[in-house]
Amino acid sequence: MEILDSREGLKSLLRDWRHHDEHIAFVPTMGNLHKGHLELVRRAREHAERVVVSVYVNPTQFGPGEDYETYPRTLERDTRLLRTAGADALFVPTDETMYPMGLALATVVSVPGLTENFCGASRPGHFDGVTSVVARLFSLVAPDVAVFGQKDYQQQLVIRHMVRDLSLPLRIVTVPTVREKDGLALSSRNSYLDEAERNIAPGLHRTLAATGRHLQDGKRDYQALERIGLEGLEAAGFVPEYFAIRRAENLEMPDRDCDELVVLAAARLGKARLIDNVVVTV
Ligand code: PAF
Repeated sequence: MEILDSREGLKSLLRDWRHHDEHIAFVPTMGNLHKGHLELVRRAREHAERVVVSVYVNPTQFGPGEDYETYPRTLERDTRLLRTAGADALFVPTDETMYPMGLALATVVSVPGLTENFCGASRPGHFDGVTSVVARLFSLVAPDVAVFGQKDYQQQLVIRHMVRDLSLPLRIVTVPTVREKDGLALSSRNSYLDEAERNIAPGLHRTLAATGRHLQDGKRDYQALERIGLEGLEAAGFVPEYFAIRRAENLEMPDRDCDELVVLAAARLGKARLIDNVVVTV
């Protein structure tokens, strides 16, 4: 596996692969890899001869007081895991590589509408940071396919919107969330949970899944189901940020006839902020 931190190194490797007509699948990450990321790498492999993974803790997607400084940085372990997973290249850009003009002069890519609610409302500026860094990574890696996890449901919709709107020449693949046996979605931030919180944490997925079952049973009072979901999370010990039932394709309010729904939630548990969702076809 090649490890690169510069634009030049990456460019020459990509040129070589392109010269041999090889396609490129790309998995952007912030490192501290877990089985969910490795599943993204495995799925990326199904779409292209070459797989590039990036590890970059992007400062522009963290708000003031968030965990940018303390975000777990585990590059040695990540490198080992990616070698075993069979990635072809690991791109570990420096801040200068990603933002050559400095953060104050950096171009911002911003998707309106979709980013205003849910995680966008709880974390102002977060999605501008995500789309700005992902657009930069797409421009450097020029992949044919990029792979994202379904756990960050709003993020993958925002990125799909950006790709469509800017006519970026790549396909986005979304991979189902990988879970612990008890249902907890794998996340780098699960390491912030203490033992008691870790026991409560699967309640987030249980509550989402219960709402999904009510929808499949024909219940359509979305507001009542959202209220029950929020109360369920509170009773379990979470501090919920949102619990919402929306149209799966665009997060708009569903009418009673909508047949593809997503139930999505974010909740705090001690130092951790957990997000999760279930998609329901009714
Ligand atoms: O999902 C993530 O890990 C990040 O938001 C991403 C897509 C790597 C951008 O920094």
